[in-house]
Amino acid sequence: MAGPAPAGPASGPSRRGPVTYLSLALTLATGAGVTWYYLHLKEKRLSKMRDKVETVGVAAIGGPFDLVDGQGKRFTDRDLRGRFSLLYFGFTHCPDICPDELEKLAKALDRIEKEHGYQVQPVFISIDPERDDPPRVAKYVQQFHPRLIGLTGPLDQVKAAARAYRVYYTKTSDDTKDYLVDHSIIMYLVDPNGDFATFFGKNVAEPELAAGIWDRVHAWKGNPA
Ligand code: NI
Repeated sequence: MAGPAPAGPASGPSRRGPVTYLSLALTLATGAGVTWYYLHLKEKRLSKMRDKVETVGVAAIGGPFDLVDGQGKRFTDRDLRGRFSLLYFGFTHCPDICPDELEKLAKALDRIEKEHGYQVQPVFISIDPERDDPPRVAKYVQQFHPRLIGLTGPLDQVKAAARAYRVYYTKTSDDTKDYLVDHSIIMYLVDPNGDFATFFGKNVAEPELAAGIWDRVHAWKGNPA
């Protein structure tokens, strides 16, 4: 007595298998290609940034800014004096890069605080002030770190802040509501005197970010303003 004949599924996987593997391989290849292309572009921008640091010198990066915090209060570079701060420029509608970077930033600063008892002040500066009003920025930064300060401001003042830090950004569409902003993915470490100390690109992983920041903090011999 033969049992019930094997139903479709038995032959299914072997027939579908190659197709699945092929599509998986294609997906991986495409993904890797896109990722490579993307990283390549970012690397190019970062090395341009590095060239700039080397040619124009550290003094040419950073400087005064005059913005507005999440409560709508004026907030300038002087409000950051007295301790190291870590600045990141992005926008709240950013689908994945900004959240990833801000999570990394938060982890690195928590690690520094836990291991060395030092609090670096994290700052998020919106380069999309048309959509990122103070309440939106305030709500956004809460997701990442309790001490993260969110800044925005009038268009020209945001522009001036971005220019000071050599931040590149451009809208990807002319649509006034639905657009993304392509932007530099760089964290800027600023010392207690308000001077630019160093920067970290997207390719720096969290433990290295924490170590790199702490190196600078630890070695700093200046006096807080
Ligand atoms: Ni972003």
